[in-house]
Amino acid sequence: MSIKEIMIYPAEVLKKRSEPVAVIDDEIRVLVDDMAETMYAAPGVGLAANQVGVTKRIAVIDIDHPEGESDLLVLINPEIVERSGEIEWEEGCLSFPDIHVKVLRSQKIRMTALNRDGEAYELEAEELLAVAIQHEIDHLDGITLANKVSFLQRKMMMRELKNRGN
Ligand code: NI
Repeated sequence: MSIKEIMIYPAEVLKKRSEPVAVIDDEIRVLVDDMAETMYAAPGVGLAANQVGVTKRIAVIDIDHPEGESDLLVLINPEIVERSGEIEWEEGCLSFPDIHVKVLRSQKIRMTALNRDGEAYELEAEELLAVAIQHEIDHLDGITLANKVSFLQRKMMMRELKNRGN
């Protein structure tokens, strides 16, 4: 396994829509493992493949990790099939170091995806997990936190990222 370089906004690859994964083979499994290792090392609670430069519809999430537990969720070709309610959450993103913005999301979702072994599964999630899943699926569609804020906020975000040498 290896830790990959995380792309920082406004890297072009973050704005690209990712392609579905056709076959889950060893190459994909290595990518999934590298993504998990990269997320844990960062540390972060979620990472999409295009954040490490690969435009495939793959994401990893582990919202329990900061508490010391590990419960890795692998999302390959994920789809949200049902959503309800609204929740505002202050979100961060590994591609926007030290930036946090309030985003409005669905409070509860139902998602289908394939796991690391290529098996289909369905998951109901709410609050933080629902927010994390929506955030990562946005990445797969080329949508980032920069798309979730006003023009003025985006300018401030860009300036902050630039000042930090990114
Ligand atoms: Ni993110």
